[in-house]
Amino acid sequence: MLILAIESSCDDTAAAVLDPDFRVRSSIISSQNEIHARFGGIVPELASRRHIEMVRPVVDEALSKAGVCLDDIDLIAATQGPGLVGSLLVGFTFAKSLALVRDLPCVGVDHMAAHLLSCLLEERRPSFPYTALIVSGGNTSLFSVTSPLDFQRLGRTRDDAAGEAFDKVAKMLDLGYPGGPVISELARKGDPKAIRFPRARLGEDSLDFSFSGLKTSVATYIDKQRKQEKDLALHDICASFQEAVVEVLVDKTLAATRATAHKSVVIGGGVAANPRLRELLQNRCADQGIELFMPSICYCTDNAAMIGVAGYHQYLAGREVSADSDAYSRSPLN
Ligand code: KG4
Repeated sequence: MLILAIESSCDDTAAAVLDPDFRVRSSIISSQNEIHARFGGIVPELASRRHIEMVRPVVDEALSKAGVCLDDIDLIAATQGPGLVGSLLVGFTFAKSLALVRDLPCVGVDHMAAHLLSCLLEERRPSFPYTALIVSGGNTSLFSVTSPLDFQRLGRTRDDAAGEAFDKVAKMLDLGYPGGPVISELARKGDPKAIRFPRARLGEDSLDFSFSGLKTSVATYIDKQRKQEKDLALHDICASFQEAVVEVLVDKTLAATRATAHKSVVIGGGVAANPRLRELLQNRCADQGIELFMPSICYCTDNAAMIGVAGYHQYLAGREVSADSDAYSRSPLN
């Protein structure tokens, strides 16, 4: 059996071919970063237009790289939500049409669920249950995952997502979009203790996050430095900001793990590619005897392979979509 998976929830058009053991035969991602970089964020209309241009060539490339053709595909999975509806509709409608024409089963996948299961693409896989941190440009949430189909939210951001904070701080510093990779690179040469930016804890037992105060604090600091005509200590600002984000993410993930009494922690989403987050989480989990599972960098940011994993479980549960199933912008999981 082979699964063809398609992802188009935001600004990347992606397709993958994988088998039910989740061995990835191909995973193709066409990034739109260049299109959106000059706007400092994603322009939804441009994103959906680009998906229309790219979905067919990306699917063709995924098939050809896997050395198969459509006749070899047994199941089609596509992201149904959440995300930009215009973008989602391109991939989801393409998948449903293909399934209809080829008389194949088709499943709609929740993008959050896919991030929550992305570690199943690795050779070393977590067993259920586990506590998961999903941290991306659109989400920062903690979940208890008890099976490939059962996710209970434990906490979420009350304002900005962590990735959004990275992107906005990068915009303040004229570093382009997306901000996470460039900030984490500059942070390598900075002092994380140089500037004490605030950490929002939101009460002793809260598993919610808030990053808007931190973002304002960075903006105020930059403003003050500019008004005083001081040179910006770019590396130190990046390292100090990143440390403030990462410390809260790690503290709350471990607090969630204590609350669930799970033995394993999983992370996913674009910010899970952050080297400092991976390092601190690794150290803290090791100290506390908790097993940590992190997807490879290529499966942290948006990709279709993880859609295939979640899609296969949907299929096993008999949750196929019909031709008139619609895309959705907000996840019921969140
Ligand atoms: O999961 P993703 O590809 O897209 C969605 O948000 O749906 O995540 C993209 C986000 C962006 O905000 C980007 O700045 C952030 O992930 N990101 C990072 C890093 N790489 C990507 N943030 C911090 N450090 C990184 N190395």
